[in-house]
Amino acid sequence: MPGKSTITVHADREVHPSRAVAPPIYQTAAFSAEDAETFAQGTVAPRGKDFYTRFGNPNLAQVSAVVAELENTEAAMVTASGMAALTTAVLALVSAGDHVIGQRSTYGGTASVLLNLLPRLGVSTTLVDQTDPEAFARALTPQTRLILVETPSNPLLQITDLRAVAELARAHDVLTMADNTFATPLNQQPADFGIDLVWHSATKYLNGHSDVSAGVLAGPAEILDRIWDVGLLTGATLGPIDAWLLLRGMRTLPLRVPRHNANGQALAEALNEHPAVAKVHYPGLATHPQHKLAADQMTGFGGVLGIEFAGGFEMADAFLGRLRYPRRSASLGGVESLAVHPASMWRGMLSEEQLAESVPLGLVRLAAGTEDTADLVADALEAADAVLAEPATAATT
Ligand SMILES: Cc1ncc(COP(=O)(O)O)c(C=O)c1O
Repeated sequence: MPGKSTITVHADREVHPSRAVAPPIYQTAAFSAEDAETFAQGTVAPRGKDFYTRFGNPNLAQVSAVVAELENTEAAMVTASGMAALTTAVLALVSAGDHVIGQRSTYGGTASVLLNLLPRLGVSTTLVDQTDPEAFARALTPQTRLILVETPSNPLLQITDLRAVAELARAHDVLTMADNTFATPLNQQPADFGIDLVWHSATKYLNGHSDVSAGVLAGPAEILDRIWDVGLLTGATLGPIDAWLLLRGMRTLPLRVPRHNANGQALAEALNEHPAVAKVHYPGLATHPQHKLAADQMTGFGGVLGIEFAGGFEMADAFLGRLRYPRRSASLGGVESLAVHPASMWRGMLSEEQLAESVPLGLVRLAAGTEDTADLVADALEAADAVLAEPATAATT
């Protein structure tokens, strides 16, 4: 098996229908067929690439080939966003009367699917504390069909024991699906622990340049075929140009991730010592309550950290206003550092009750980019000094 840097550069070769060194962009809505038989085959060929772009396209097939090898799965598919990957998969895999288990600490959109969308469709859900592997077992019912995990979780960086959840699910004939957005396949390959399906907001690290909204799903071809079938109906397809940009971004993923890891670790260590900070959530810190589990299933800890400020909502908000390099933005995973105050961002997505349960109000999510480590650390420490020295003034910035 080639290494990750070789995979990201070469794994799409076989689905590269031209001799151009850089893949051409197949900016076409449809393809022509030579005869009736080929045309008929195109209508039913799962995840094909040259019938109609909503069904597939060479640019999508190229991304899929690389993702499948990176995640060590049989196949992969691409969607218009991370949320399109998730919703298309759950629509394909569960029906009214079924039960789904998710995590309490999870991306807000995933929480909303579990708390609002699925119950509206007659699918019951239970959200568990993923730091306790037994909690998944306790939540199982005879109707459970799917377990959704996310590790590290957004934004609390909690870790799920992938092997334990996969073993439990297999023993009960339940499918598992892991959001691998924060870790990236460079740091963690959930399929190696027995997880059935891996998905990403490819908008983040996979693309890495904050210029594409996309999602990917990786897993066994038979399951992906079922999801692809539903994706045809929901129209969850990514456009060819975006797929091309995503592939271009993925070429350098193995170069970018080690820098994100180093920056995340350095920021976590520096801020963990700062008096303005009550707690840093980062699985690479020896003080993280699940550091050992993280080190067992990850080879690096990623660029995202949660910084919980001693001065609560106001101090967290003021810290963001003081940062020079990380800009205030909802995304993460790009070459530029971005930061967000989840309590203010998720207000519109979750009820007050759901918000209070999912995130500490003084938490800042800082996503380290690929800038020089020393610059990011100095900037973050200066901002933390400033909010500590002048909390009242800073709170109004
Ligand atoms: C961990 C995680 N999963 C899924 C998503 C949703 O992905 P997208 O915004 O590409 O739909 C996000 C978005 O922030 C995320 O952070």
